[in-house]
Amino acid sequence: MQDAILEILLQNSGYISGAAIGEMLQVSRAAVWKEIQALRKAGYQIDSVTNKGYRLCSCPDILSAAEIKAGLSTRVLGNTIRLYNTTDSTNNAAKRESDLPDGTLFLAEEQTGGRGRRGNTWESFSGGGIWMSLLLKPNIAPANVAGLTLAAGLAVCTALNAQLPPDKRAWIKWPNDIVINGKKVVGILTELSAEVDAVNYVVLGIGINVNTPPFTGVLAAKATSLLAETGEQQNRVPLIRNILSALEPVYFAYLENGFPALRTEYCKNCITLGKTVKIEKSGESFLAQAVDLGDTGALVIEKDGKQDVVQSGEVSVRGIYGYI
Ligand code: BTN
Repeated sequence: MQDAILEILLQNSGYISGAAIGEMLQVSRAAVWKEIQALRKAGYQIDSVTNKGYRLCSCPDILSAAEIKAGLSTRVLGNTIRLYNTTDSTNNAAKRESDLPDGTLFLAEEQTGGRGRRGNTWESFSGGGIWMSLLLKPNIAPANVAGLTLAAGLAVCTALNAQLPPDKRAWIKWPNDIVINGKKVVGILTELSAEVDAVNYVVLGIGINVNTPPFTGVLAAKATSLLAETGEQQNRVPLIRNILSALEPVYFAYLENGFPALRTEYCKNCITLGKTVKIEKSGESFLAQAVDLGDTGALVIEKDGKQDVVQSGEVSVRGIYGYI
């Protein structure tokens, strides 16, 4: 009932009486008052005036499906939301509930077993970040799913840049890490369930260090957070909404026309292009120039005057002096 009351308050910019809310939800005014008290306790600022009722003044930075949905203008992404206080991994949660509709969003305040690419763990402090996964059911060949993760990287980068102060800029480190000031702030883990020639579903897992405590040890040199970069706590709900809104058109464009539909925009935001990079492939590493992206989103590299193409799944790309 708390979520339903929150939804009503979010839809009303003015005051709404306890009796009117009670009528909408078929409960007593006293029951409404009790839930309003609980919302206040959770950090929602709710003004109340005799004979006028309640008005929502501000929301705390806690994830709420009702708040995400209010003002969300997507057609598919986020239509269904599953929110956990704690779960092992939102990617795992999406796989467990893979019969839910295309575009279902899984979110958690905390992941106890957050997973990164190449079997790495992903630190997922409670309330410190956005740990989200989208369950997608695209009608594409399994071989084209890799390009989808590039599309996701582009959308997240766009959403971040819309929110960052003008002196900060997010970039895509090919294929889909997002970096600010040379340090990683977002990681994307895409997982696939498919038959030989058809996709059952894709889980697009996105981890964003938002208000994360400062990184220590080896991570300090290569990981950062929005808080560290901007000096300000960031509200996660508007950012989640912006990511869904940025991703949906990019997702549909990719499904219709593949990576060429996104190539220009992706290249504009890709910090890897034009750089000398260290390619690690099957235990070997060599330096090469990152020169271009192919029609499927593969990285075109140049070494000793010869061009070659590397696919996102098979290599790790590093800068020669640091992470990018
Ligand atoms: C990477 O290694 O760069 C990818 C990190 C992906 C982390 C996200 S957080 C939400 C989702 N759940 C997971 O367990 N992993 C992804």
